[in-house]
Amino acid sequence: MTDDRFPVLPAGFLFGTATASYQIEGAATEGGRTPSIWDTYAHTPGNVLRGETGDTACDHYHRYPEDVALMKELGVGAYRFSTAWPRIRPGGRGPANPEGLAFYDRLVDELLAAGIEPVATLYHWDLPQELEDEGGWRVRSTAERFAEYARITADRLGDRITRWITLNEPLCSAFIGYAVGRHAPGAREGTPALAAAHNLMLAHGLAARELRASAAARGGTAEVGITLNLDRLLPATGSDADRAAVDRAETLHNRVWLEPLLNARYPHNEAETWGALADGSYRESGDLEVIAQPLDFLGINFYRPVVLRDAPHREPDTALRTAMDIGAEEVPIEGVRYTTMGWPVVPASFTDLLVDLDRRYDLPPVYITENGSAEADEPDADGRVHDTGRIDYLRDHLAAVAAAIEAGVDVRGHFVWSLLDNFEWAYGYERRFGIIRVDYDTLERTPKDSYHWFRELIRVHGRRH
Ligand code: NOJ
Repeated sequence: MTDDRFPVLPAGFLFGTATASYQIEGAATEGGRTPSIWDTYAHTPGNVLRGETGDTACDHYHRYPEDVALMKELGVGAYRFSTAWPRIRPGGRGPANPEGLAFYDRLVDELLAAGIEPVATLYHWDLPQELEDEGGWRVRSTAERFAEYARITADRLGDRITRWITLNEPLCSAFIGYAVGRHAPGAREGTPALAAAHNLMLAHGLAARELRASAAARGGTAEVGITLNLDRLLPATGSDADRAAVDRAETLHNRVWLEPLLNARYPHNEAETWGALADGSYRESGDLEVIAQPLDFLGINFYRPVVLRDAPHREPDTALRTAMDIGAEEVPIEGVRYTTMGWPVVPASFTDLLVDLDRRYDLPPVYITENGSAEADEPDADGRVHDTGRIDYLRDHLAAVAAAIEAGVDVRGHFVWSLLDNFEWAYGYERRFGIIRVDYDTLERTPKDSYHWFRELIRVHGRRH
């Protein structure tokens, strides 16, 4: 008997939840951690709504046992978290920090004892500030420092973590961070943002080698992947101009990562997309070979589709243009619900994205490493959070994944973003993505209705298969 409340995913499908270090850990100055670019950015007035920072966040650094217990109760098979580079290797170079490594040791052991697989992301945007001071992702040496940090981390945790994600959403690191400046380090640059995108890809490739070498030295293997926020991009009209705008956006959003990673080449239409910015001066021969390491899996973060129309460049002078200014602008989608992020809810576009990617690329197995919604949920008089919008979102997007699997796409798992309400970057704590509510005054955790729904979904699958 089928139950409409719960989409049907195949046997062995991995259900998980996801978080990231700066968004939940807090303890920003404890245990030998040094500042990352996000500490600097958030502490600079005007950057984050209401001037909020990740100083305390969800205090997960101290409360991780409670959070793991909540996940055990939930029944998830895996937990995707990120390790903080400035905790493990403060300053970005030099010796590892024993206290930092010890924290992740404790977390991983707690997870394994609860029967939950730890899936670690090595970079979820918290670059050590010292490395930014030396050029950050604009310079190649940061990729080398990243590979060293990956090796340190894998040498210590790789006996228990076997699935690694190198980078989370390099699009945001490169373009939101160095082109439009709405994320740390808050730069508004042209070519340097393209160099950042390239150096991030290089960092991925160098780190992938180190992760595998670390596992091999132990006589084991590591599964290595990367998480991309690939977008479903659609033209506002059938006009040639709008289609061309989407084609440029395909390069900025998707091809700039997928072409080097999967096809060992750069996008064919860089000149059309970036004009004179795309001079490629930051590339060296041999880079593509490093970047195109075989991927054991591809992580995809998905939230919403994007409809675009052709638009004049905002900065007509090429020298002033940022790498995000590709002559396209987003238009609203009529007749659909919007979440509190201002993002349209169109689950079918998720299926379309996956099927289309599968058709265009020779994809490795796919994990949905993030998917979820920010809702205006408030506790009722009894303290319960009836977040029906989030339940609908998750149900319909999991059904969209099931449809993609049905159509032949090899999707192996799905991680809900997020386990907890947390620091939503430039939006601070105002936007809530958690299936567990966090009261930021008391730091008390309250499972929302979506948590209970998700728990039931996992149970139904356990019974079914
Ligand atoms: C993607 C990012 O990886 C994550 O950090 C963020 O909170 C969610 N999207 C929601 O915006």
